[in-house]
Amino acid sequence: MTPASRAGAPAFLEARRSIRAFIDEPVDRGALDRLVEAACLAPAPHHSRPWRFVVVDRDAGKRALATGMGERWRQDLRGDGVAPERVDELVASSHRKIEDTPALVLACLTWDGLDRYPDEGRQRAEWGMALLSLGAAVENLMLAAADAGLASCWVAAPIFCPEEARDALALPVEWLPHALVLVGHPDPAYEGRPRPPVPLDELRDFR
Ligand SMILES: Cc1cc2nc3c(=O)[nH]c(=O)nc-3n(C[C@H](O)[C@H](O)[C@H](O)COP(=O)(O)O)c2cc1C
Repeated sequence: MTPASRAGAPAFLEARRSIRAFIDEPVDRGALDRLVEAACLAPAPHHSRPWRFVVVDRDAGKRALATGMGERWRQDLRGDGVAPERVDELVASSHRKIEDTPALVLACLTWDGLDRYPDEGRQRAEWGMALLSLGAAVENLMLAAADAGLASCWVAAPIFCPEEARDALALPVEWLPHALVLVGHPDPAYEGRPRPPVPLDELRDFR
């Protein structure tokens, strides 16, 4: 058997990193539209596009989203037994993160274009497929951001509170937020963690 090539990943994939600090400068809406267009080139089941993208670049929207998700997180942390001062610190820091980011892209899933099944197992698998495709769309969006010289970082929060995130922005009831991407012009002082090498022999197998 020929040994597999160890040439590494393409440079455009290496170039995308999660960047969590931005300069205080708005992101042009045309540029944000191009990111959403890139997201919409992702593969999806049955030629569907079960995604909706909400670009939040106004202070009121950022505040509403931070408050809606933050209150739910506060309840969850209290339920976990986290000390009240620590809860306040964590929620305040997540507010700052959202409110200080120039633009947010909230990626939502809908049932639009998906198949419906009478049984729960296949229904769950269908939603799982849509969720996988949303991940592909978000990756496209972040690759396009890197290509445009923009910084981005995926934030998990909405997947833990899709209804709260939806209602905070008064979105249609069938749009369920599942991912949040922070977007902005990168702070040149930001230093991310070094990316560990890919331990190929642990992560893949040939049969
Ligand atoms: C589903 C998902 C959720 C994530 N959630 C967060 C998050 O809540 N906050 C954060 O700072 N980064 C988050 N990240 C970014 C990861 O921490 C990051 O991708 C990882 O550390 C690898 O670094 P890199 O993207 O620079 O290669 C998330 C990434 C994914 C795919």
